[in-house]
Amino acid sequence: MADSTRTATLTIDGKSFALPIYSPTAGPDVVDITKLYAQAGVFTHDPGFTSTSSCESAITFIDGDKGELLHRGYPIDQLAEKSHYLEVCYLLLYGELPTAAELEHFETTITRHTMIHEQMHNFFRGFRRDAHPMATMVGVVGAMSAFYHDSTDITDERQREIASHRLIAKMPTIAAMAYKYSIGQPFVYPRNDLDYASNFLRMCFAVPAEEYVVDPVLSRAMDRIFTLHADHEQNASTSTVRLASSSGANPFACIAAGIACLWGPAHGGANQACLEMLKEIGTVDRIPEYIARAKDKNDPFRLMGFGHRVYKNFDPRAKVMKQSADEVLDLLGVENNPLLQVAKELERIALQDDYFAEKKLFPNVDFYSGIILEAMGFPTSMFTPIFAVSRTVGWISQWKEQLADPAMKIGRPRQLYMGATLRDYVEIEDR
Ligand code: SDX
Repeated sequence: MADSTRTATLTIDGKSFALPIYSPTAGPDVVDITKLYAQAGVFTHDPGFTSTSSCESAITFIDGDKGELLHRGYPIDQLAEKSHYLEVCYLLLYGELPTAAELEHFETTITRHTMIHEQMHNFFRGFRRDAHPMATMVGVVGAMSAFYHDSTDITDERQREIASHRLIAKMPTIAAMAYKYSIGQPFVYPRNDLDYASNFLRMCFAVPAEEYVVDPVLSRAMDRIFTLHADHEQNASTSTVRLASSSGANPFACIAAGIACLWGPAHGGANQACLEMLKEIGTVDRIPEYIARAKDKNDPFRLMGFGHRVYKNFDPRAKVMKQSADEVLDLLGVENNPLLQVAKELERIALQDDYFAEKKLFPNVDFYSGIILEAMGFPTSMFTPIFAVSRTVGWISQWKEQLADPAMKIGRPRQLYMGATLRDYVEIEDR
């Protein structure tokens, strides 16, 4: 627990209240208002939690002004270049980079949990073929709590670890099955001789009629996309997982809640919305029309893939993603991809526009990921499921951290009530 070295004084109607101030290892100081209501009889009010810390965490730190993202202190650009997704999973889960032996044991454990219970295949057949894969994933992941009873006791540390491994291992299989089901192709089982990203690509794109050989450039790009989306402080879906977990819900139910929240176009659904926006813009000459709409207060249109609650500079993940986009498109011989041309011109124009500069609206992680995923052959409906596969390790790491936090209690915000005050029931004949 952080120590309080100073206090803040809040004065209301002439009465003063001392509130402890904690200084973090990085980022702004925080004022502890835990006892404010008991002392002063008032709530604080912060819709959207723009200025509110919900927990103490040691997993990920973002400096929005610098455009810096650290996982357990390691910068995301170094991890994207030098590490790989399962090693980043180990780092997020256990707090340190693994030794060679620790990494081998972890990768073997994950690899050997990639299959799902055969009975779960029936779940997919209950959905319409045109169901959005995120709907399928929310349903199937929530149903995992009906199959893996031996890892739902959150008070048992070994069960917590088994559930963590099962979720990281099975999410790619479930996402690939959701995709295969939506296109009417047979499910492809995972293979233990493939790495995590290659296994996922093969489960998505292989067909029984012929051998599927994974291109190392594509699997490296896939692994990098997984790495870049792994965790991101207390974003909306992670906060959803923490809130669900605070009631004691089992890990599979909590992750299903996180998937549901990630689906929104303002959050993880933005990669799909961004690509659909680029397709709607269609050509470079139509960009000014959309820039004008994004600036028009009376138009709800927003540039998908731009802006961020925390980053007021370039999202460091977008920088790495942009480099990956060039590599993948060069490999696939689609470097003249019209969508990428529109994306690059839109980025250039937006970054020169005073409106976006004033509001510090920069491209975020979702701006380029959609272009890479489309070039790799994924339909837009699979973009957010891929984000969910990657973010599962972040959700589960934050879930584990919260369960170990002695300060943890059920999350129950208060409100600024503006409704009717006490009044008596009126019989219908008197209304
Ligand atoms: C993710 O939290 C995370 O860490 C999320 C994430 C993660 O890894 O978990 O990083 C993943 O969700 C990335 C964000 C993906 N979403 C999008 O790309 C959707 C488009 N972006 C916006 O909806 C918006 O920027 C948000 C939701 C991302 C952030 O919104 P905020 O912080 O609540 O900011 P705001 O809505 O208060 O906007 C501030 C101003 C507003 O203008 P004013 O009311 O001050 O006049 O900026 C404007 C907004 O109108 N604005 C935009 C804009 N985003 C904000 N104007 C045009 N286009 C945009 N994209």
